[in-house]
Amino acid sequence: MRIVPALIETLRRTRHLLVLTGAGASAESGIPTFRDALTGLWSRFDAASLATPDAFARDPDLVWGWYAWRRMKALQAAPNPGHRAIAALAARVPRLTLVTQNVDDLHERAGSPAVLHLHGSLHAPRCVRCARPFDLAPGVPDEPEGGRRLAPPRCPQCGGAIRPGVVWFGESLVPAVLDAAEAAARACDLCLTVGTASLVYPAAALPGIARDAGAALVQVNPSPTPLDGMARHTLRGTCAEVLPALLAAAWPG
Ligand code: APR
Repeated sequence: MRIVPALIETLRRTRHLLVLTGAGASAESGIPTFRDALTGLWSRFDAASLATPDAFARDPDLVWGWYAWRRMKALQAAPNPGHRAIAALAARVPRLTLVTQNVDDLHERAGSPAVLHLHGSLHAPRCVRCARPFDLAPGVPDEPEGGRRLAPPRCPQCGGAIRPGVVWFGESLVPAVLDAAEAAARACDLCLTVGTASLVYPAAALPGIARDAGAALVQVNPSPTPLDGMARHTLRGTCAEVLPALLAAAWPG
């Protein structure tokens, strides 16, 4: 992958780098992107029919089973070279803010210290009634029996059903997380978007906020996105191939 000198200079000079990742960042770790997550076992469901509060209220066992399956896939996966390159970038630039739309913990497991999870996490379930966090058993859970339905655990304090700690369609993001992400978009001088279709708001608004505040936009995606006309550089490739090349080009040896 050839990295143009202008991009290398931009990366070397950045004072505050905002990295925004999407499902494509975890694809090479074997975690299906959101829309692919409905392959095989789940192909007969539409994502929006599983990722909503109504779906959980209507059929908690089906929804909890799907998220238990996704959490198992995430725990079976390993960070890929793209995750590791992002973690390494933090040691190369004065300031790096990492914002992800992903609900896995691969950035953390690759060594990124502080990750803003705009859409929550598979590893932070909570009680649907009292909102207390619920501790899941450590380690990789077994394939849910029967592969599809799994009754959610009950809250030890109030008996409410435990729900996944992700932001569902129709739900608001955690204000403090979104505020921090928007503040970083206004303050950064370089916004690097990685593996996101840039279609789902408010996450998809962050690159525009950065650009309007004067930041350069750089995009890594093998396919076209709405950012194509806005990005100063678009690297048409995958995270695991492009990000290590970017790091090596800007900071060789
Ligand atoms: N490297 C880089 N990009 C990739 C790779 C890869 N190996 N594989 C796929 N992509 C790109 C695709 O081209 C696409 O643009 O990653 C993007 C994945 O798009 P989505 O599946 O829509 O994921 P994302 O943009 O993160 O979706 C945002 O929407 O589905 C909801 O809440 C869900 O967090 C998700 C949000």
